[in-house]
Amino acid sequence: MNLDLFSDSGQEKADPSGVNQNFLRAKQLHQLLHHHAHCYYTLDAPEVPDAEYDRLFRELQTLEAENPTLKTTDSPTQRVGGEVLPEFQTVRHQVPMLSIRTETDNESSGASAFDARVRRELNLPEDAPDIEYVAELKFDGLAMSLRYEHGILVQAATRGDGEYGEVVTHNIRTIGQIPLQLTATTNSLPEVLEVRGEVYMRRDDFDALNTRQLAKIAEGEKGEKTFVNPRNAAAGAVRQLDSNIAAQRPLSFFAYGLGEVLRWPGHAVPFKNHFDLLQTLRAWGFPVAIQTQCVKGAAGLIGFHELIALERDALPYDIDGVVYKVNDLSLQNQLGFVTREPRWAVAHKFPAQEELTTVQAIDVQVGRTGKLTPVAKLAPVFVGGVTVTNATLHNEDEARRKDVRVGDTVIVRRAGDVIPEVVGVVIDKRVEGAEIFTMPRICPVCGSAALRDEDEADYRCSGGLFCSSQRKQAFLHFAQRRAVEVDGLGEKLIDQLVDSGLVSTLPDLYKIGLTALVQLDRMAEKSAVNILKALEVSKHTTLPRFIYGLGIRHVGEATAKELARHFGTLDGLIEATEEELLQVADVGPIVAQSVRTFFQQAHHQEIVAQLRACGLRWEEGPPAERAPQLLTGKTFVLTGTLPNLSREDAKVMLEAAGAKVAGSVSQKTSYVVAGEEAGSKLEKALALGIPVLDEAGLLALIHDPLKEGAST
Ligand code: IVH
Repeated sequence: MNLDLFSDSGQEKADPSGVNQNFLRAKQLHQLLHHHAHCYYTLDAPEVPDAEYDRLFRELQTLEAENPTLKTTDSPTQRVGGEVLPEFQTVRHQVPMLSIRTETDNESSGASAFDARVRRELNLPEDAPDIEYVAELKFDGLAMSLRYEHGILVQAATRGDGEYGEVVTHNIRTIGQIPLQLTATTNSLPEVLEVRGEVYMRRDDFDALNTRQLAKIAEGEKGEKTFVNPRNAAAGAVRQLDSNIAAQRPLSFFAYGLGEVLRWPGHAVPFKNHFDLLQTLRAWGFPVAIQTQCVKGAAGLIGFHELIALERDALPYDIDGVVYKVNDLSLQNQLGFVTREPRWAVAHKFPAQEELTTVQAIDVQVGRTGKLTPVAKLAPVFVGGVTVTNATLHNEDEARRKDVRVGDTVIVRRAGDVIPEVVGVVIDKRVEGAEIFTMPRICPVCGSAALRDEDEADYRCSGGLFCSSQRKQAFLHFAQRRAVEVDGLGEKLIDQLVDSGLVSTLPDLYKIGLTALVQLDRMAEKSAVNILKALEVSKHTTLPRFIYGLGIRHVGEATAKELARHFGTLDGLIEATEEELLQVADVGPIVAQSVRTFFQQAHHQEIVAQLRACGLRWEEGPPAERAPQLLTGKTFVLTGTLPNLSREDAKVMLEAAGAKVAGSVSQKTSYVVAGEEAGSKLEKALALGIPVLDEAGLLALIHDPLKEGAST
């Protein structure tokens, strides 16, 4: 099916009233929305981001509002959800599973608009007191209706088309968070109770699942795939015919309402408002999100919207907005419903984290070590709060897996501070003849051969410092704060210096004169003087910084420090044999060989000699004994945010003290250092009985490891 999302109605003949045009566009929107609803609800494989679906839906709603004759019963605006899959037994929802209206204004003002609407529909005078609302999270999973009879879970059904759902009890039983039997005494429960809520997948569970899926694919297992996002993975798990497969896909649940309820004990409903209902559900054993709040008036809703917008990225699961509900049940009744939506609730979404855009080119960038990285150049798109124009495709395998081609329409995601990524391609929108991307076999910058080692994912340019891109990156590396530090020597300036031919090796940097500098584009005399000063200051450096600044492959900051300490002088290092290098703490064969190869090359020795001749200097001394390594043999895992130390700082400190820092918790972990919002790693540590430290405890241990368990 080839659906053109963007073109206008295609109507070209004279149609001054626009009647035909509207009719055609409405038909087109029907088709599009039916198609996307089918992909989303039935196939669990959406082709476009939610934001795009919402836009099309709203366009149709507006069109129908302006031209009521277009509002036919088969219009997607008149339906609640997806379809029912024939593979599953179906069930009629005695109380339909409705949808909620989405507020179109994504800013805080959308909250005031809802409050104003509710007040108007209730005919409240202006000076009437604030309305009480329950503010909830809008979970990004799939709606589920859980039916309990006499307190026992007898059925779980999806929303389906809102009226008929699919029976998926076998899979829902695998969700540990869903009570199979309610903890309340049966004489406080209604005979029939349908609890409604959202089944979802936590982000860490999703990542782990995709990692397992990738491993299966790598092992050649047929029919396995990775999932686009947690909601998709959750929907796929719920729709498994085999509950053993569902059980391997960890799901979670939040309750947010009721469906059919029959025969309360003593005919007395034990709550008078929605908030009390949620408390009751919690008391019965259902997870209810702790963020849920009871708030007053528009100001209360706005406050909640702003608070959750800040917390959103730190939550362990995806939400796409918040939901406001009128708290008082009799007011809810009074407000009632319009076709598919209650008037007493609204979904207030956050700006989308996924959007559609097109790939204008796939560039290949060359890094400092020659690594070639394919980067998708995108038509600018506002997503996750910033305008995105680039997204890395990482390497050839990744680019192939996603099969991104120039001209493709792609879904781009940017969540939190994570770098933007291409989630997938909208295959329907692919232009004919779009070519499969292949990594160039020669460096796109210098034309040298690009080679890929058998066991490596990356191609590398073999041009070394002959390649201007590698050279630029080498200058940047040398001038960075943690290396030789030349203040003000950034990417733009380096590009100009290299492209104009002013510098081609590191020593050239120290030979530039003021006259040459001021001739560069947009270089005022004052800035030029500052750069020269910074170059002068940089000449007095330290041996570890200098070694690190040379950019020897596999020599990071910590290794540079070790090499400097072990050999004491640069000449000692230059002359060291591989055997001697292997004596250095933490230096293995790969690092030893890399260092040796680097200094064996005459042009590297020449560069070092010239840098010295330019006046670069550092203190040297006799080889030093390694400081006693207090934490040798201990393995640490860092999780959450520490109050003062960044994770990188903590890692460097620990490694300097001889400890290893690992990514996951196991029996072998000596300590877990946990900060705020520590997640599953902390839980695992507690389960395994591994000592947990906070920042103060970590510092105490580094300074005095005898004080073990300083703050466990
Ligand atoms: S209440 C009558 N509350 O959003 C109102 N729905 O269009 C029934 N959703 O697919 C829904 N979080 O699964 C409600 N806190 C929340 C929700 C929520 C997510 C989903 C729901 C449905 C869609 C509503």
